[in-house]
Amino acid sequence: MGEAPVRVRNLNHYYGRGALRKQILFDIDTDIDRGEIVIVTGPSGSGKTTLLTLVGALRSAQEGSLQVLGRELNGATGSVLEEVRRHIGFIFQQHNLIASLSATENVELGLKVTRRYRRSALRRTARDMLAAVGLEERMDYRAEALSGGQRQRVAIARALAAEPMMVLADEPTASLDSTSGREVVDRMQALAREQGTTILMVTHDNRVLDIADRIIHLEDGRLAGFTDSVLANTQHMMSLVAMTHQKQDLRKVVDGLDETGFRNLLKQLDDEAQRVIQATALANDAVFHSLLEQGLQAATRKLTQLFDAERASLFLVEPERGTLLLRVSDNVEGEIRIPIGTGIAGAVAATGEPVRVDDAYADARFNPEVDKLLGFRTRSILCLPIRDRHRQVFAVAQLLNRRSGEPFAAEDETRLAGFLDSLGVVLESLQASAASVGEEMA
Ligand SMILES: Nc1ncnc2c1ncn2[C@@H]1O[C@H](COP(=O)(O)OP(=O)(O)OP(=O)(O)O)[C@@H](O)[C@H]1O
Ligand SMILES: [Mg+2]
Repeated sequence: MGEAPVRVRNLNHYYGRGALRKQILFDIDTDIDRGEIVIVTGPSGSGKTTLLTLVGALRSAQEGSLQVLGRELNGATGSVLEEVRRHIGFIFQQHNLIASLSATENVELGLKVTRRYRRSALRRTARDMLAAVGLEERMDYRAEALSGGQRQRVAIARALAAEPMMVLADEPTASLDSTSGREVVDRMQALAREQGTTILMVTHDNRVLDIADRIIHLEDGRLAGFTDSVLANTQHMMSLVAMTHQKQDLRKVVDGLDETGFRNLLKQLDDEAQRVIQATALANDAVFHSLLEQGLQAATRKLTQLFDAERASLFLVEPERGTLLLRVSDNVEGEIRIPIGTGIAGAVAATGEPVRVDDAYADARFNPEVDKLLGFRTRSILCLPIRDRHRQVFAVAQLLNRRSGEPFAAEDETRLAGFLDSLGVVLESLQASAASVGEEMA
């Protein structure tokens, strides 16, 4: 079949009659190619499910043209709609399983309608597919005895087992945990790649957007342009990321953690940045900078606590500018940059050697300018390099003034070095994420 499996032209759709007639879809125009994975996003009530049911020949097209698998559906007879449906796998919000039949029997029913399987092959294929969605333990349970997520997986197995020409899925991962959700979409993607299955899927799940060849966005029944889609999805994703972190006051969380807990928190921030990167190319660099900032803030704050210091600073090396960018444990507004080579931190960045100073103002390398800028009086300093995976110095950590009044000791230096080893890996990765997205956006 040479032509696109889905060809939509000026499609309008209405619900209700007479005075209650209300237009739901406006002038929809799009083609979906063979093997293409298209994700539909959009606010609740924007018409996503309506569009899916029209494409799935589950209701008649009223106005415009809708060609699916080579058949015109506007004005089509019931038997044409039925014939088209036979080549489509449906994964819908309401699973349409038969409650009194077992999981296996439900999947077999899905296979039977294709009329492509002999009796003996039916059971085997059904069971293989149920195993693939992680239900080998539940194959003989009746649908009514399964949980919502398990029923969802039976529905998915039923839709995919028949290797349909097209899969229409409405929020297929909604009731699945992230691991099984991922397995399901990976399976759908494999189908699309290996068998040229066309996939049209509605989802709000940002973790699976990456499988899409194309994302289309519905807004009040109209297809939004590409830019609007990007904006809508980026904003949605950013608000998700922001929400996760605003729920808890980061300061309080950090204060309550021991050293291991704190390392886990940083790891979590890092994982999140990686996930967002992998999930979509639509990421906004503000997300990454905010994650990096949070990582830096959390790290400086924890350093003051662990080492009983009055202040901790992190300096990020900016080799292309020849400067160090300062981040301080207290929320200091604005950005402070100092040239590499000046001050104690500059010396550490330049030489890669740790520096321990008992009396700052007596040390010729000390630069009192930053003290002046921040209204601080430095007495003792412990300053160490943070190295990346290639052992290059990419940041410098600096502790100022032990609260006890004593200068920093050799044990502090050893302990800080150990701590920075693990901190460095995470910070490097966060920083790289922020930088790489920044470049893509530029
Ligand atoms: N059978 C129906 N009869 C009348 N109105 C309907 C019918 N089905 C849906 N609607 C209306 O059409 C609009 C679009 O509904 P649709 O189910 O397509 O939205 P959606 O984008 O899938 O939303 P959600 O994300 O909440 O599932 C809504 O305003 C809804 O109330
Ligand atoms: Mg819907």
